[in-house]
Amino acid sequence: MKVLVIGGGGREHALAWKAAQSPQVGEVLVAPGNAGTAAEPRMRNVRVGTADLDALVDLARRESVDLTIVGPEQPLAAGVVDRFDAAGLRCFGPTAAAARLESSKAFAKGFLARHGIPTADYRSFTSIDEARAYVRARALPVVVKADGLAAGKGVVIARTLAEAEEALEQMLEGGAFGSAGATVVVEDFLRGEEASFIAVVDGTAVVPLASSQDHKTRDDGDTGPNTGGMGAYSPAPVVTDEVHRRIMEEVMMRTVEGLAADGIRYRGFLYAGLMIDADGTPRVLEFNCRLGDPETQPILFRLRSDLIELLSACFDGSLPDAAVEWDARPAVGVVMASAGYPGSYEKGRVITGLDACADDDTAKIFHAGTRIDDGNVVNDGGRVLCAVALGRDVRAARDRAYELVGRIHWEGAFWRRDIGHRAVDRRRSG
Ligand code: AMP
Ligand code: GLY
Repeated sequence: MKVLVIGGGGREHALAWKAAQSPQVGEVLVAPGNAGTAAEPRMRNVRVGTADLDALVDLARRESVDLTIVGPEQPLAAGVVDRFDAAGLRCFGPTAAAARLESSKAFAKGFLARHGIPTADYRSFTSIDEARAYVRARALPVVVKADGLAAGKGVVIARTLAEAEEALEQMLEGGAFGSAGATVVVEDFLRGEEASFIAVVDGTAVVPLASSQDHKTRDDGDTGPNTGGMGAYSPAPVVTDEVHRRIMEEVMMRTVEGLAADGIRYRGFLYAGLMIDADGTPRVLEFNCRLGDPETQPILFRLRSDLIELLSACFDGSLPDAAVEWDARPAVGVVMASAGYPGSYEKGRVITGLDACADDDTAKIFHAGTRIDDGNVVNDGGRVLCAVALGRDVRAARDRAYELVGRIHWEGAFWRRDIGHRAVDRRRSG
C-alpha cells in the first residue's frame, strides 16, 4: 500500500520512517518532508504544503494513497480529515470538531468539567475586567492561557498579580496571539511532575502508546522561554503501572466516552499532557489531537510492532485486538536547534557530520528543519535535528544520543545538555 504523511518536522520523519518499515507498505509520500525524508529508502517528498487542503486531497487521489497520516495540528484544526472523508479517502486524525480539544482551550476545559475528568479549576473570559477580578481572588501562581493555537507559546505562569494582569492585557487587549487570544482561560497552578500520554483511538477503543516526557523550555535546568520541545524520553518513570491504570480509567476512557456522548467521533492520536501529583493523581493540563514533537521520535523508536497495521485497525473495528510491542529499553531524543530559536534565527548553514552517524538499530538522527541546498544539507527551521538512541538504561541512552550530537556541526547549532535529567536523577535516588 501507499501511505502519505502530512508535515515536514521531526515527528513526521519518524512517522514516515516507521511507516516505511511495514511489510505492507510499498512507498511513503511526505508532504512536504525535509532533507531526512528525502534520503530514506521507499520515501518520496512531494512539494505540497500542510495548509493547502485542496492540493493534499488531489495528491492522495492522484497517487492512489491508501492511508494518510496527519502530523501537525493546524491542518487538523482546518478540517483536513473532514475533506479526506468527504472525498472517500482514509485519513488518520480527528475531524475539525474533534480537534477542538486542542484548538480551543476553553472548549477543552468545558469538556473536562462536564465529564468529570480531573483538571485544574478554571474560568474563561473575553472581558478584561471580569478576568482581572477573577485573578485577584485566586491564589498565586495562576496560569493564563490563550484559547487558540499558539505553538506552545500562549501559556503564562504568573507568579505575581502584576504578571497575571500583564498577560491578560497582552492577550485580551494587545492582540498577542491574534484571535487565538481573544478568549483566555485562567486556571489554578498545579504541582507535580508532567508526563505525556498518547493513545491511538478509533472512536471507542483506546490503545496507549508508551509514555514519555518532553522538555519544553529552551535552557538547561528547565529555564528560559518555552519552545515546541528541546528533547524527550520514553518511558516516563513517573507513569508507574498504577498511575498508568489511573490515566487510562480516569482520563483516556472518560474522554473518549465523553466525546461519544457529545456526538463527536474521535479517530486519531489523542495526547493528554498531564500533571501527576504526589499521590499519583493525574490531571489534564492540555489535550493535543496529534502526536507530540519531539516525543514521537523516542516513542516510535521503541515501537517494535507494525504502525500501519495499528492505524489501519482504527478503520475496520479491529483496534481492540491490536498487538502493540515495545522495546523494553528506554529511548532519549536530544533536539539540535538553530541559535535564536524560539525567536528568529539564520537559515541555510551547511550541516556536517551527518554521515558519521550511520543509522543502526539503536540510534538514529531524525531531521526536522532541514533542506537540501546545492547538494548540502542546510538548516531551514528552528528545531533542526533530533538525535535518538536506545540504551540499557536512561543514562546509557542519553550518553549515546549526546555522542551523536557531538559529531554534528553547523554554525549556530545549540542544544540542551540535560535532556532526561529527571529520569536519570530518579534512577540514581531510587
Ligand atoms: P499547555 O500548553 O496548556 O500544556 O501548557 C504548557 C506548559 O505550561 C505545560 O506543559 C506546563 O508545564 C505548564 N502548565 C500549563 N498549565 C499549568 C497548570 N495549570 N499548572 C502548572 N503548570 C501548567
Ligand atoms: N512537545 C509538545 C507537543 O508536541 O505539543
